[in-house]
Amino acid sequence: TVKALAAPAQAAPVSDPVLQEALKRAVAKKAVELVKPGMIVGLGTGSTSSMAIEELGKLISKGKLKDVIGVPTSYQSRVLARQFGVKTVDLNDVNHIDLAFDGADEVEASMNLIKGGGAAHTMEKVVDNMSGKCVILVDQTKVVSELGLSFPLPVEVLPYAISPVLRSLVALGGVPEIRSALRKDGPVITDLGNMVVDVRFPEGIKDPAALECSINMIPGVVENGLFIGIADSVLVATHDGEEITI
Ligand code: 5RP
Repeated sequence: TVKALAAPAQAAPVSDPVLQEALKRAVAKKAVELVKPGMIVGLGTGSTSSMAIEELGKLISKGKLKDVIGVPTSYQSRVLARQFGVKTVDLNDVNHIDLAFDGADEVEASMNLIKGGGAAHTMEKVVDNMSGKCVILVDQTKVVSELGLSFPLPVEVLPYAISPVLRSLVALGGVPEIRSALRKDGPVITDLGNMVVDVRFPEGIKDPAALECSINMIPGVVENGLFIGIADSVLVATHDGEEITI
């Protein structure tokens, strides 16, 4: 069932990781149904997008989708596309993208997003923004009433400017923390060679559009993970099996 919602269902917790994987898979399968032969498709980054790339590859290998070309948003999505038989081109080799599918860390009712949990939001923003239709794929845990209350905002920063940028983020009311690699003693470095700062806003983000601009005005900031007015639709997989389109 596909329901059109005026406002999103509030996220119900999904504590079972197996169920959450199943929800991501369901929404990934739904997304690739939107791809038509000959399309140029933006390939998002993250676990949900990875499943969609895999599902796209399956349709291509079965001969159900011909002449589809992917535009990756990271090394991860480029490698996966190659692995699953989706041909790719560089962003600069195309002058349009028909459809992009991508994941998100938080989504609110007006389809503004927080992205960058996978440190790929800079390239994702370029690709998602340029696509004729940007479809966001989430499970119900990502739907929130206000951005930033639980997920910190990722900001990609030039390593050269990390200290002044941290001070400026504090001046904007944020609590910034440099993202560290899980098992290594050092910062996460993005595909573009930069650092990621995760910024908590304890009171939430009241004006996402204004904050997006203010952060991007800080010299040394490459891009932040607020995606305002970029998503055209959001597919939400819910644990009762119902798909909801915001
Ligand atoms: C990467 C992203 C991802 O789309 C976001 O983190 C969601 O990832 P997942 O599908 O693994 O939950 O923004 O930069």
